[in-house]
Amino acid sequence: MCGIVGMVGDRDAVPVLIEGLKRLEYRGYDSAGLAVLHENDVALRRAVGRLSALESELAAHPLSGSIGIGHTRWATHGEASVRNCHPHAAAEGRLALVHNGIIENYQELKKDLTAKGILFSSDTDTEVLAATIADCQQDGADLLEALRCALSKARGAYALGLLSLDAPETLYAARLGSPLIVGKGSSGYFIASDVPAILPQVDEVIYLEDGEIARLTPAGVEIWNLAGEAQVLKWVKVEMEESAVDAGGFETFMLKEIHEQTRVLRGLMERYVMDGQIVLPELNMSVGHIRTLQRMMIVSCGTAYYAAMYGRLLIENYTSIAVETDLGSEFRYRSPKIQPGTLVATVSQSGETADTLASVQMAKGAGCPILTICNVFGSSLVRESDHLIYTHAGPEIGVASTKAFTAQLMCFVFLTLYLAEARGELTAETREELLAELQRIPTAIHRVLENKEHIRKIAEQHHDGPSSLYLGRRYNYPMALEGALKNKEISYQHAEGYAAGEMKHGPIALINESLPVICICTETEDEVAEKMISNVREVQARSGRIIAIATEGDTRLDDITEDIIFVPRICECMSPLVNVVALQLLAYYAAQARGTDIDKPRNLAKSVTVE
Ligand code: G6P
Repeated sequence: MCGIVGMVGDRDAVPVLIEGLKRLEYRGYDSAGLAVLHENDVALRRAVGRLSALESELAAHPLSGSIGIGHTRWATHGEASVRNCHPHAAAEGRLALVHNGIIENYQELKKDLTAKGILFSSDTDTEVLAATIADCQQDGADLLEALRCALSKARGAYALGLLSLDAPETLYAARLGSPLIVGKGSSGYFIASDVPAILPQVDEVIYLEDGEIARLTPAGVEIWNLAGEAQVLKWVKVEMEESAVDAGGFETFMLKEIHEQTRVLRGLMERYVMDGQIVLPELNMSVGHIRTLQRMMIVSCGTAYYAAMYGRLLIENYTSIAVETDLGSEFRYRSPKIQPGTLVATVSQSGETADTLASVQMAKGAGCPILTICNVFGSSLVRESDHLIYTHAGPEIGVASTKAFTAQLMCFVFLTLYLAEARGELTAETREELLAELQRIPTAIHRVLENKEHIRKIAEQHHDGPSSLYLGRRYNYPMALEGALKNKEISYQHAEGYAAGEMKHGPIALINESLPVICICTETEDEVAEKMISNVREVQARSGRIIAIATEGDTRLDDITEDIIFVPRICECMSPLVNVVALQLLAYYAAQARGTDIDKPRNLAKSVTVE
């Protein structure tokens, strides 16, 4: 959601900014723009739509200059239009600002500025912030002071990049609540929303802290806090490989990331399972603490919320800890009864989701320790947390989460085993059984991937209707929700995930011969297995188009449907890690048949950094 890139260096910034913006496309955007210091002017180029529109604008009106800022915008305040695109100018075009986040009191600030005769040309909060900086400069302040003064007036969240004719060799950056990094490389200094955006340019980065302001010049970087105190520069070497952020021969990033799951999960096991024991180096939680845990609350959003639902089932099954889950956007606005000792956990690919972050801050305020399962080092959630488990899935570029999700599921398996063991609630036999099963997961996923042509054919037969229904029970209920979400996100077909047992309370009314009903039936052993088959028969009795996911060798569905995706036998509590890969492929091929932009689905953002 909104991406920022900026550069001050010894070569033309424009191609670097365009490449950076391309690398930020995955975050989701509907317009883009850049500004460079060009022939003693702050020159802007902005366009609505994909980056190709901005490139055409640049081809028609070329620019060059060694200091510049660029932005991909995901509209919040004001429609996607050129006048609302970033960068926003102020001070009669002497300064330009790009911003990610929301200035909550922008209406108030705008009123004061309007009263002073300042005119606005956009509907955005960003233009108001730019004008506030210019207004602070009017009082004779230099640009750094003016920026600090404006930020002290602003309420809300921001990551920003600022350039001005009044400081022609300089780029300013600041963050509060939205991610921003500073980078250095052989051709200059850079800012960006994330490392992949400037990966080819930099060797080292600094993850700016909340409330920090950075000044970048060709001579180097300085950082202050909002009180004006100089900060020590904490450069971190960039370890990421370029191959982690290219599509590696796959037609899309999403397909690449679906295929990466075997490698990611193997890597996770190598990292966290040693000599039959779970070792979680960043968890940092004493056995004494784990033994006192009575309640846990897991808060997250989107796909990560379904991982949380899975985690709850596992932890409650193998430990005596009571676990609840909630969506970040709900948790933060209700009155949750969280006692100081409650462990509040978050799950997040990006570590930047605004609602999850706000929930954590609320829980911290209530005296709760915070555990985060996250994919991005140095992210905001990571910094707010006392206890961590990294998912080590590598950069996930496809907007629809795949490998980060299965990595989250596996991390919940590790966490469960770790907690159960520390509490003395796990027998050696159960631990060995579960670990043995875990080891089989990558190969089982590989088998699903090998079956992708079959899955593609099924998707192609059923993609055309207006809607589809996904059913599952117990561990596979969250997977039904996730399967439906994947389908909605990338194929734009309405899809609903439901607990199969709830079908009679509503969705059964939807079933007719044109409704595809995706039934996860991999349980084969207990009453849940039987109940699921009964639910499938109820769909059959109403002529629904059944697509089943079933265990290899299971013949119970033979007289029900021909559209079966067989997956290797895995114990029920870990079957979601395999089943969801089939659901990802099903959504993928449906989206392909429907001709959507799979890596960048309309209206969606990868990282939802505003409410
Ligand atoms: C967006 C993404 C989803 C993701 C959700 C939560 O909606 O498109 O893929 O699941 O945000 O993001 P997080 O980074 O916290 O996992």
